[in-house]
Amino acid sequence: MKILAFETSCDETGVAVVEDGRRIRSNVLASQIATHQKTGGIVPEIAAREHLRAIDPLVEDALQSAGLTLREVDCVAATVGPGLIGCLLVGANYARALALGAGLPFVGVNHLEGHVYANWLITGDPPQPEPELPAVVLVVSGAHSDLVVMEQHREFRLLGRTIDDAAGEAFDKVARLLGLGFPGGPEIERVARSGDPKAVPLPRAWLADSYDFSFSGVKTAVLRYVREHPDASVSDVAASFQRAVAEVLAEKTARAAAEYGARSVLLGGGVAANLALREEIAKRVGPERLRVPPPRLCTDNGAMVGAAAFYALRYRTADAPLAVRPNMKLA
Ligand code: KG4
Ligand code: ZN
Repeated sequence: MKILAFETSCDETGVAVVEDGRRIRSNVLASQIATHQKTGGIVPEIAAREHLRAIDPLVEDALQSAGLTLREVDCVAATVGPGLIGCLLVGANYARALALGAGLPFVGVNHLEGHVYANWLITGDPPQPEPELPAVVLVVSGAHSDLVVMEQHREFRLLGRTIDDAAGEAFDKVARLLGLGFPGGPEIERVARSGDPKAVPLPRAWLADSYDFSFSGVKTAVLRYVREHPDASVSDVAASFQRAVAEVLAEKTARAAAEYGARSVLLGGGVAANLALREEIAKRVGPERLRVPPPRLCTDNGAMVGAAAFYALRYRTADAPLAVRPNMKLA
């Protein structure tokens, strides 16, 4: 089953062809980072317009790299939520029109399921086996921080989520107040490499026994610290902030993995690209249980949508929606 998949929920236009949910035949991306760097953040209308500009040539590119024509594709899929409504509409409407014109079925994909199923994509030779279930999954992106248990395919039970900022949002905001570029996550990770993670004392929001997260306190603490210490080393502050966020995410993920007897621990979303976070989690759950996609498959891309679409067709546990739903949840 060859699926032509579209991702346009935020600031990356992604088009991919994925075979049988795991094999990436092609995965092309048009990043809008350069555009949004000028404003230091994403302006939704501009993002939607950029998707519109990028999408047509990307489809040609994706089919050509896969060595396929549209006739040889079996199904078309697109992210229908969550995300920015204007952006979602561009990709979903384009994909539905393409499917209709070609007489192909269309599958609407939950973007967060895409981040989960990025862990099913084959990136090694020989191919890694499929992740074992039950799994504890941490999805940490620019807009979400969800900790869930996945007992069966497409069955997610929510353990906790952020009660304020998403993890990626905290990285982006702290980067901005440290005078670093956009998006903030990779910038913080880069400067943190030469910093001391113990240099700046920052709070950890454990929220008692809950699996929920809160990142606005640590963000405010960073703000206060740099105001009071204008000469502080940016590297030290970045490293301390990164450690504070990673420790809380890792502790709660590891506790959930123990409580629910997880056979694997899966990460997804842009923040999962962060090496310090991976290390903190690997230390606690054991590297053999931990699965993380390579960085380019952690951040938004079309291949993850193709993977999720395949499993949505195979395990029709929940309806695959047709209309865009900007506030869609994972669980
Ligand atoms: O999953 P994603 O590409 O888009 C959303 O669905 O939101 O995630 C983007 C987020 C941004 O907040 C970005 O700063 C963060 O992921 N991010 C990182 C890293 N790479 C991207 N955060 C920490 N460390 C990174 N290496
Ligand atoms: Zn995402």
